[in-house]
Amino acid sequence: MMFTTKCAMQNIRNVAVVGSGLMGSGIAQVSASSGLNVILTDVKQDSIDNAMKSIHKSLTRISKKQSGSDKEKADYVTLTMSRIKTSNNVSTAVTDADLVIEAAIENIDLKRGLFAQIEQSAKKDAILTTNTSSLCLEDIAKGIDDKTRFGGLHFFNPVPMMKLLEVIRSDQTSDETYATLIKYGKAIGKTTVSCKDTPGFIVNRLLIPFLFEAVRMYEREDASMTDIDAAMRLGASHPMGPFELADYVGLDTCKFIMDGWATKYPDNPTFAPSPLIDALVSEGKLGRKTKEGFYSYKKN
Ligand code: 3HC
Repeated sequence: MMFTTKCAMQNIRNVAVVGSGLMGSGIAQVSASSGLNVILTDVKQDSIDNAMKSIHKSLTRISKKQSGSDKEKADYVTLTMSRIKTSNNVSTAVTDADLVIEAAIENIDLKRGLFAQIEQSAKKDAILTTNTSSLCLEDIAKGIDDKTRFGGLHFFNPVPMMKLLEVIRSDQTSDETYATLIKYGKAIGKTTVSCKDTPGFIVNRLLIPFLFEAVRMYEREDASMTDIDAAMRLGASHPMGPFELADYVGLDTCKFIMDGWATKYPDNPTFAPSPLIDALVSEGKLGRKTKEGFYSYKKN
């Protein structure tokens, strides 16, 4: 049989993903396609509906590249989709979870509120994690009573295609929690790397300042957007140039991350905001998801 759906893990069967945006939907997809039962929760029903549509589309795309008959491909999509349940209620969604992965927006108060709610309803031995892209675990965990079972799982967009998973432990994360997170990462087919509980971990700490540096280069009129993108694609073998990638990640996400760091480290010029990104975000031009950012994605 060409489709691997069995998961080697024994202690994690049920995963609750909190937040059904770009990252949450991808995390739900890779967990379900590895054989885990998933519940995807969000307060917004239209966000859940969009997530389920994009998961179906992505699974179909993946199945087309697999060998096997059309029926086997269709069965793979149907079986994986059947493992994903949805809910609008975080408290009830997490009750059976062995692993909770929070993938809500990058807002510390919102995340703290969510974890207070999650900890009240989740099993006492459930592992609680955040997919934060820029915040410190220590700050998010302030309201969590049992910090030994809390850690970070940082995924990359598009989650089904990107091979990396950053696994983060704080000073209080237990060895057992950490080992289980590494095991989960391997079971869903990701290569894991670890990093101290520092803002942005490895990838975003390097990537986000790089994207902003490209924007500053364009703002200084050193080079055009398309030339900067071509230069990094062809001269550094990046799959996307910095403007293409910023649009792909979302300019609002880039801004949230940098604004958070600028507030925390006001004297570090690396974290200075970009007037151009601020202007695009205030105009609602957030990148691919709104069909316009640095580039336009509107079909004529
Ligand atoms: N689901 C399933 N398959 C997908 C997919 C998805 N969501 N997205 C792309 N694919 C597949 C396509 O089917 C295609 O497969 P094929 O070549 O075998 O037919 C393959 O990926 C390539 O896709 P495309 O032809 O559409 O386009 P590209 O070749 O440009 O690849 C890309 C797309 C994988 C997104 C590639 O451009 C890339 O790797 N870009 C960089 C992405 C990146 O850096 N991500 C990290 C962002 S930082 C982050 O997420 C952290 C956060 O905290 C901010």
